[in-house]
Amino acid sequence: MSAQTAFVEPAGIGALFDPIRLGGLSLSTRIAMAPMSRYFCPDGVPHQGVADYYRRRAENSVGLIISEGTYIGHPSAASYEGVPYFSGAALEGWKLVVAAVHAAGGKMFPQLWHTGSFRNSSMQPEPGLPGFGPSENRNAFTDHPEPTRAMSESDIADVIAAYAEAAADAQRLGFDGVEIHGAHGYLIDEFFWDTTNRRTDAYGGDRRQRTRFGVEVIAAIRARVGADFPLSFRYSQWKQQDYAARLADTPDQLLEVLGPLVDAGVSILHCSTRRLWEPGFAEHGDLTLAGWTRKLTGLPVIAVGGAGLDRPGLKSAGPASLEVIETALARGDFDLLAVGRALLADPEWAEKIRTGRLAETQGYDKFQLETLI
Ligand SMILES: Cc1cc2nc3c(=O)[nH]c(=O)nc-3n(C[C@H](O)[C@H](O)[C@H](O)COP(=O)(O)O)c2cc1C
Repeated sequence: MSAQTAFVEPAGIGALFDPIRLGGLSLSTRIAMAPMSRYFCPDGVPHQGVADYYRRRAENSVGLIISEGTYIGHPSAASYEGVPYFSGAALEGWKLVVAAVHAAGGKMFPQLWHTGSFRNSSMQPEPGLPGFGPSENRNAFTDHPEPTRAMSESDIADVIAAYAEAAADAQRLGFDGVEIHGAHGYLIDEFFWDTTNRRTDAYGGDRRQRTRFGVEVIAAIRARVGADFPLSFRYSQWKQQDYAARLADTPDQLLEVLGPLVDAGVSILHCSTRRLWEPGFAEHGDLTLAGWTRKLTGLPVIAVGGAGLDRPGLKSAGPASLEVIETALARGDFDLLAVGRALLADPEWAEKIRTGRLAETQGYDKFQLETLI
């Protein structure tokens, strides 16, 4: 099988605004809002302002909203303040949010999150409880001296049960699916990564064995939500702790990671890259990581990283012209395009692109992040 896929004349960015059906999930466009933590829930409960924030994107041509990371109901999941929970009292708040998105014609997944070694024992909701990880590791906040706790088998079982409970709650509240945050060096990714997983039991070992924790999370969710509920899994090569880290150096190695996750019940793969147009494996041709993900697994794929950021005023991640996205789209590298910062800066970004008003899109300035609602 050649790594190169034949170049097809781009059908144009307009194809992003066609409706799409992924299994049982029907979306009005192929644009997704990327999950972005906004730290605007001081008590961990989403409020009307959060519902309005997502509604503004859903009513402007964003087919799928993926929520900011939201903590599963285990005290070890939390680290950063202001992040909403997906358990207890917060669930009433999430009802408001999903109702607002649905009223605008959108669909929504919560992104279920356990922050692993980013936690330390000074943090809420249970001071004294350290960060959890596959092995005893340096705390991921580099100025914090306390190591993470290597999870026992009962810690693992409790955390897996909390993921399954959160997914079942999402289904009960009327969400259209869930996304599992398996990327960026947080808990599930720490199990994947050989630097942070040095276990000698069944949760450690070679690349495939290191997927076991993620596989058990997915299997436990599937057992609760049934075969058809959309289940997206977000993965990345890069880590917050190390942008150059890689889970896989070759397509075959990537399949060692993704294959078991797909077999366990993932139905959509969300491939988190910082620049979506870059080759996934430079020595194997120019196919993007999203393209490889789709080719290797046959599943629907969400691509992300740099969309729209080449506009003057948007702080650029590189030459992210819409043409390079068109090329990857036409080649069939991805099904959905997730957009992060461009949609933060401008809730109407997708609608402006759809109607040819690129010049009117607002610029992104991370120093004004708090004002972007
Ligand atoms: C303010 C901010 C918060 C983010 N929070 C999350 C998060 O909670 N979960 C996650 O998986 N990625 C998170 N990301 C990464 C984005 O989902 C996305 O992958 C990244 O911004 C690249 O896409 P973009 O170039 O379109 O912005 C965050 C990014 C930003 C800018």
